[in-house]
Amino acid sequence: MKFATKAVRAGIIPDPTTGSIVPPIYQTATFTLEEIGKDKGFDYTRSSNPTRAVLEANLAALDGGEYGVSFASGMSAVDAVLRLCSAGDHIVCSDDVYGGVSRLFNQILSRYNLSFTYVDSTNPENVAQAIRPNTRLIWVETPTNPLLKVTDLEAVAAIAKAHNILLGVDSTFATPYLLRPLDWGVDIVLHSATKYLSGHNQIIGGIVITNDQPIYEQLKFMQRSVGAVSSPFDCWLTLLGVKTLPLRMERHSENGMKVAQFLENHPQVAKVIYPGLPSHPQHAIAKRQMRAFSGMISFELKGGIQAGIALMNNVKLCSLAESLGAVESMITHPASMTHAAVPQEDRLARGLSDGLVRLSVGIEDVADIIADLTHALEKV
Ligand SMILES: Cc1ncc(COP(=O)(O)O)c(C=O)c1O
Repeated sequence: MKFATKAVRAGIIPDPTTGSIVPPIYQTATFTLEEIGKDKGFDYTRSSNPTRAVLEANLAALDGGEYGVSFASGMSAVDAVLRLCSAGDHIVCSDDVYGGVSRLFNQILSRYNLSFTYVDSTNPENVAQAIRPNTRLIWVETPTNPLLKVTDLEAVAAIAKAHNILLGVDSTFATPYLLRPLDWGVDIVLHSATKYLSGHNQIIGGIVITNDQPIYEQLKFMQRSVGAVSSPFDCWLTLLGVKTLPLRMERHSENGMKVAQFLENHPQVAKVIYPGLPSHPQHAIAKRQMRAFSGMISFELKGGIQAGIALMNNVKLCSLAESLGAVESMITHPASMTHAAVPQEDRLARGLSDGLVRLSVGIEDVADIIADLTHALEKV
């Protein structure tokens, strides 16, 4: 099956009792047994649920994986993957991972004697040099949130294999339509399903995909034991979103490229970061490993903090909202929003300049998005 067919069909079988073409929402906590030892594959929804099982099969197929494990959020999915490690283990991690991920690593998991080294994984040599005898996992995000750094997965996978270390990739920004990490030798793929997969700002969810059966069994055990499971209704809503994933990603990427080109020629804009532009430092790698470049753009305004605040206060179509990857265009200014509490010095050290803006380009008519930005940029 081709990708678009899988998005609509993979793992989906008409409901055996009614023939319903849409898999039902099995909104139940538990399942009755005919007699001891005789269940129909389900006993309790924390362990497994038919609606969730359909979503897991569907998303695993899209990433070219054998197994999918669905969680209540992207963060609980990351947490489950990190629980493959034991106290004393070391993790090498991309230096520009989503802030919630570095918070989990630095403020929670480090208390359980896991240690982390952050490296710029756009140079695979940095990953190789950070490996220690106790390194258990390499954790890469590509493209990263928010600086859109792209990592060469084939090169990092070769390093991981040579050292017998697991390689996990957060592929939220790319989605399986644009990037298939397993094909490049990655062991574990993760998505925040909250973003492009569900696509309509309707749920919080996460998914982990792998071809490795022992890893899958450990993740299933974690899902059942910790209980951070996605609800049947959220799974159902995600399945609905996934059906149009290829169509949406085509439009997000098409609009993203046009908006990036518009911004690159705008006099108030100092710099545009978009993997699809030849000016992006890893454009060649992005072109080789991705089908297109998604809808995420970061750019720097010449006017710093004040310009960022003015832009936020003058956009009308683009929503001032902290999420990303949905049909609506959404815009954030880290210095005055998500990272307002971070001291300027620390923010700048992370590459988050005063005028940095992150734009999640939606699927509206691109002329309207550009008109909105044109008008708001006149006010900065
Ligand atoms: C790249 C990335 N990974 C993981 C997450 C966490 O996902 P969730 O918000 O679904 O917990 C996010 C959230 O923004 C993200 O951007």
